[in-house]
Amino acid sequence: MHPLLWAVAVAIFIVAVVRQNQHRRRIKSLGVACPEPPNVYPIPFGIGRFLYIGRRVKDGTFMDLWPEWWQEYGKTLRFSAFGANSIFTDEPDNVRFILQEGPLAGKVGMGADFHDQWYEFLGDSVFNLDGIKWKTNRAKLRKQFTRERLADLELFEHHVQRMIRFVKSYSEQPVPVLDLLHRFTLDTSMNYMLGTDENTVEKPVHQFSHAWDNVFEIMDARARAGGLWKILLPKKPMQDAMAVLNEVAYTQIDRAVERRKNGEKLGTSFLDAITEDTLDREEIRGHLMTIMLGGRDTAALTLTNTLHALARHPAVYATARAEILEVIGPSEIPTFEQLKKLPYLKAIIDEVLRLWPILPYTRKSALKDCTLPTGGKNREPIAVLADTELYYSARSMHRRPEFWGHDADLFRPERWIESGGNHKPWTYFPFSGGPRICVGMQFAMTEMQYILSRLLQSFPSLSTTQPELEYKMMILMVPKTEVYVTFHDKEA
Ligand code: HEM
Repeated sequence: MHPLLWAVAVAIFIVAVVRQNQHRRRIKSLGVACPEPPNVYPIPFGIGRFLYIGRRVKDGTFMDLWPEWWQEYGKTLRFSAFGANSIFTDEPDNVRFILQEGPLAGKVGMGADFHDQWYEFLGDSVFNLDGIKWKTNRAKLRKQFTRERLADLELFEHHVQRMIRFVKSYSEQPVPVLDLLHRFTLDTSMNYMLGTDENTVEKPVHQFSHAWDNVFEIMDARARAGGLWKILLPKKPMQDAMAVLNEVAYTQIDRAVERRKNGEKLGTSFLDAITEDTLDREEIRGHLMTIMLGGRDTAALTLTNTLHALARHPAVYATARAEILEVIGPSEIPTFEQLKKLPYLKAIIDEVLRLWPILPYTRKSALKDCTLPTGGKNREPIAVLADTELYYSARSMHRRPEFWGHDADLFRPERWIESGGNHKPWTYFPFSGGPRICVGMQFAMTEMQYILSRLLQSFPSLSTTQPELEYKMMILMVPKTEVYVTFHDKEA
């Protein structure tokens, strides 16, 4: 080897050893370190472990790894490589610290790397900010989800009727619901945000939707590449996709800002309402992308999972339909109050989100040195160094038999009725928890209850030939293939 390369290799080796020793000393001063699984590939400084995890993320089997780890090494593990630390935990007390106590004390947040990774897409958004900027940003969004706005269900009716007509046009042939519901939620999101009616349900090819999917794939790739995304990934595809999204957003924003400045009569859209708080077009763009990101794919995927589960469980479908017909009637438009009186439908959605949470695992960052409540060999608190990535998984926690019983893997909405909706704290968090709990949770629940009520009123039964779905575990948990459900005119 060239002498210069030798010198570089030796220098890297020395830096790595020094950093590893510094970390050990800092960990000792805070408490104990949690266990670290052995190296899978024989590459020193933990690089072997990171490469192994990267491979499992890439081949879509990352989530299968979690129960394997818990069984072998305990429920909180640490991985370190070259000064970068990650902790994976499946302990309710640790999840509580990561979501509740840590953020309140300013010790846990999204972190600067995450902010950078998402900046081009979201700007300064509630999703990627910390501290006072996050607080201000979140307060502006929360204002938009008032009770009156939640109770305004008119927006959905027009889109649901269009979807029902579309489903009927299949004349009891299997409907590709994954695709349909993505188009449906694109239409409702655009209508809610901008006040436009895109009708992608009937006109599937939509440039915005295509660019949106591209951006999402790129964000997935960035998440997989971790700190190396800037070096590893090309810039152009993101720039091209963002150009399409931004053109739509800026055109609408500029019009709304003009309307506000000219004192014209404003509409009821989120965009018109947000111009009351800010006229900064970049800030407004961030809010729009955030709402779209939060609300579109999440609702589409949960509704897809629900329809598929209902098609596989005719008795559950029949019970839910009977409840809806009794409370709302066979064809009447549901009111907000009636939707709150459908405990069985609510239990179905809770159960779907338990088994198939849309965010299978989530990442936060330690903003300061701190400790997690448990994870040492004797369950004692464990040291967490600033900048450590903290991972926890709804997909894993929601299926633990010690919290959900021996039938944890089964779809059984009745468990929510039997328990009165209760569960051990921090074992169920499909909408996250603590101060950063999903800002659109009520909106999403109302939207999903409304749409399901209308569909169940309209179709006496569903069926599917597809057994249990398989999922890609990316930022979101997405079915690997299209999902087909047949909507019938008669009871099963
Ligand atoms: C089934 C539907 C939904 C699910 C399962 C869901 C789930 C979640 C989860 C797990 C988080 C935490 C993310 C993290 O910790 O990184 C979150 C945050 C968020 N969600 Fe949702 N969400 C849904 C619908 C919506 C809707 C409809 C909106 C808006 C219209 C929305 C807006 C947001 C926002 C703005 C945040 C960030 C909150 C913050 O960091 O302060 N979500 N959501």
